[in-house]
Amino acid sequence: MTAKISFDGVGREFPIRGTPGRLTALEGIDLDVAAGEFMVIVGPSGCGKSTLLDLLAGLSTPSAGRILLDGEPVTGAGLDRGIVFQQYALLPWRTALGNVEFGLEATGVPRRQRAERAREYLELVDLAGFADRHPHELSGGMRQRVAIARSLAYDPEVLLMDEPFAALDAQTRESLQDELLRIWQRTHKTVVFITHGIDEAVYLGQRVAVLTSRPGRVKSVVDIDLGRRDSEDIRSTPEFAHYRHRIWTLLHDEVARAHELEREAVG
Ligand SMILES: Nc1ncnc2c1ncn2[C@@H]1O[C@H](COP(=O)(O)OP(=O)(O)OP(=O)(O)O)[C@@H](O)[C@H]1O
Ligand SMILES: [Mg+2]
Repeated sequence: MTAKISFDGVGREFPIRGTPGRLTALEGIDLDVAAGEFMVIVGPSGCGKSTLLDLLAGLSTPSAGRILLDGEPVTGAGLDRGIVFQQYALLPWRTALGNVEFGLEATGVPRRQRAERAREYLELVDLAGFADRHPHELSGGMRQRVAIARSLAYDPEVLLMDEPFAALDAQTRESLQDELLRIWQRTHKTVVFITHGIDEAVYLGQRVAVLTSRPGRVKSVVDIDLGRRDSEDIRSTPEFAHYRHRIWTLLHDEVARAHELEREAVG
């Protein structure tokens, strides 16, 4: 079976401004994501997580290796991939509805249908009553829900999310996590989700890929087998604690190493 997404020896370097040197952000990334899978990626700050997502989104190109989507190399951005960034990238002069419609304008959906579809997706994220509000009239959690609705509205097969809930309070974050799981279960999209949060990774992921500190490599991929996640308070079960500890341990060494690298760079 071909993977939905396949990283094949992917590396990414950046020039270092003012020097002839180059910074290796990612090195030798091999990772397959199956169709319909919920894959979470964690790693220390600066290890290349956003870089990885940008490559997959087609916003930049690898320095080494290749990324395949349905077996074809990624050559640029496309409507087959929806992106939700960490900062609510909403258009401030447009209403919630207008922001969701924005995603549909590129797809050539007629105007009447655009509004209809946008309303549908606002409903999906429980914002039906807020269609006419502008971003500044919405809370952070609501804005992020608009951003999610926007990326879902044009029905991409793959959803790329870069720490989408990081800026939210714990309660809002947990309710959006549940909403996202619900949407994922309903739509069978392939999700690649980046987070700093170990609990978030265990709660959401079917698999969690832990990256090393820079240059980012895949250190380990952990299968999360928690059964039904929306049934009870899964976060307080021994199984959950087991996975949390496992990922914490994998990450801990890498974060320590990242701090060492930082100290060397400064000193
Ligand atoms: N356009 C760029 N030009 C030069 N260096 C870059 C560029 N983008 C990223 N980098 C460098 O690549 C490394 C990885 O950055 P990236 O943003 O992918 O990390 P991250 O894992 O997403 O970090 P965080 O968890 O803090 O968001 C960093 O050292 C960063 O400074
Ligand atoms: Mg990042």
